[in-house]
Amino acid sequence: SMGGMMGGKLIGFESVPLSTADAVTVPKGYVAQVIAAWGEPVGLSGETPAFKFDGKNTAAEQAAQMGMHHDGIHFFVQDGSADATKSGLLVMNHEYVDDGLLHADGIATWSAEKVKKSQAAHGVSVIEVEFKDGKWTKVSPSPWARRITATTPMGVGGPAAGHKLMQTAADPKGMKILGTINNCGTGQTPWGTFLTCEENFINYFNGPATPNADQKRWGLQKVDAKLYRWHEHDERFDAVKHPNEIHRHGWVVEIDPMDASSTPVKRTALGRAAHEGATIAVTRDQRAVVYMGEDARFEYIYKFVSRDAIKAGGARANATLLDHGTLYVARFDADGKGTWIPLVHGQGPLTAANGFADQGEVVIKTRQASDLLGATKMDRPEWTAVDQKSRKVWCTLTNNSNRGTGTNAATDAANPRANNTMGNIIEWIDSGDFDGTTFAWKHFVLAGDPTLARAEAKGNIKGDAYACPDGLWADARGVLWIQTDMSTSAMGKGDLVNMGNNMMLAADPATGETRRFLTGPKGCEITGVTITPDGRTMFLNVQHPGEPASERNDPANPRAVSNWPDQRADGRPRSATVVVRKADGGLIGT
Ligand code: FEO
Ligand code: CA
Ligand code: CA
Ligand code: CA
Repeated sequence: SMGGMMGGKLIGFESVPLSTADAVTVPKGYVAQVIAAWGEPVGLSGETPAFKFDGKNTAAEQAAQMGMHHDGIHFFVQDGSADATKSGLLVMNHEYVDDGLLHADGIATWSAEKVKKSQAAHGVSVIEVEFKDGKWTKVSPSPWARRITATTPMGVGGPAAGHKLMQTAADPKGMKILGTINNCGTGQTPWGTFLTCEENFINYFNGPATPNADQKRWGLQKVDAKLYRWHEHDERFDAVKHPNEIHRHGWVVEIDPMDASSTPVKRTALGRAAHEGATIAVTRDQRAVVYMGEDARFEYIYKFVSRDAIKAGGARANATLLDHGTLYVARFDADGKGTWIPLVHGQGPLTAANGFADQGEVVIKTRQASDLLGATKMDRPEWTAVDQKSRKVWCTLTNNSNRGTGTNAATDAANPRANNTMGNIIEWIDSGDFDGTTFAWKHFVLAGDPTLARAEAKGNIKGDAYACPDGLWADARGVLWIQTDMSTSAMGKGDLVNMGNNMMLAADPATGETRRFLTGPKGCEITGVTITPDGRTMFLNVQHPGEPASERNDPANPRAVSNWPDQRADGRPRSATVVVRKADGGLIGT
């Protein structure tokens, strides 16, 4: 194993320092390699258009290439694989696009073709990768290769399927939805499927100048030039004309990566939210429990408990497992205890008199239901992580500078810092089993920088400083991987003055010891992480290098911030997957 502090068995590498370089840095003895950048062909048979560095790929070409802004990622062993150490599938989200980067001339001459390209750069990619001559590379063409975009047809399962609030002119039955958008965190089920979470879907819709109460609760507004402008060329995204289309997004979507012709399904029993992550635990009697955050200020933490046990037989045998069960929202009490409150129609205030006609309306209006139930308003709950062995569950609360200000919620035990610029990670164990309806909680850590003067920004990290935890994953060895998303507009100043670029750290959940494992290039966030079953290869994503300049309508600007990973004079910064291995082939994290 590597030198340095040999404090714990779990974590053995030497920390990397903070960095402002336009590069990925990994510990001594580790090597990092870039694959699957935005625009590379995913490997569809007969359709492998090369990336054009000037942004001139068409919408149709983009639909056969890696999407923009990689996010959550998982490694899947193919059905019938001879050797999982030598090949597998990577399934990953493409959260959103910067139109300034996506098109040759940015948002100038806005057109139907640009809307189509933007939609094609969203969604999910499935790629096949293989380990050959000491390196992982994409297999192209591959029978598993697939792009799922903002226009891919999807089914609907659970209580909102066919609901009248899901019916539109184009889909009067409310059973067939086009596309998935703003796919952020992810989950991987024990039956071999990928869960993709639709986060800030509302930003894609044009709303009325005066939104109604439901539209307001979900943040619908009249589109201005900063937003996507899809509605100008795709009427579906004009909520003034098609008010129910917004109800068809904000779901967790299940995808079977083993079958490139399978139809993704929106699982409405898990509730509608600006979902960030859907992490699975399994009860002793083999039911699935899905933990979910909703990344918005003062929103909630959820869990879903399946009615039925997971069956042998993979995706097909469990095709409706996530359609039946109970959704709960968390209330964190000051005594370190908490309650999972069921979102069940007819129970408590969730009645027709209060605006919930049936369970379909409860899951469509999850936020309003949770408001009535008195759930705890959290500091932007992002990813959740589960350690099946210790039964610990964690959720990152990335930050909330509005906490305790103006008319906003005051601090409370679970969200203890006003002007929370640094974020926390909260930890709980459900009573009895993962389906327990009460829990015991504590803060795993308050993130921060101990060198700052402001007391509430110092935090209590045992080890290397960081801020704004977002991506979170517990690997099979029990290491808790923490990824940061400091906003690029706040980076390098204020409380984040010392923090450099976004990063990934490894923590030992038993001791709290935390070491910085990786730093990213300029203007990026680090998000999504997965490790092969042999523990020897890690894949993670670098999202939006070049921000905030990449948000502007000038493709030359972002290059001045970051030109990662290509560093070409005529290039543009690209989100990409990074493969990390130990030079000696050892276990990642040791
Ligand atoms: Fe898509 Fe909450 O980050
Ligand atoms: Ca995130
Ligand atoms: Ca974030
Ligand atoms: Ca981001």
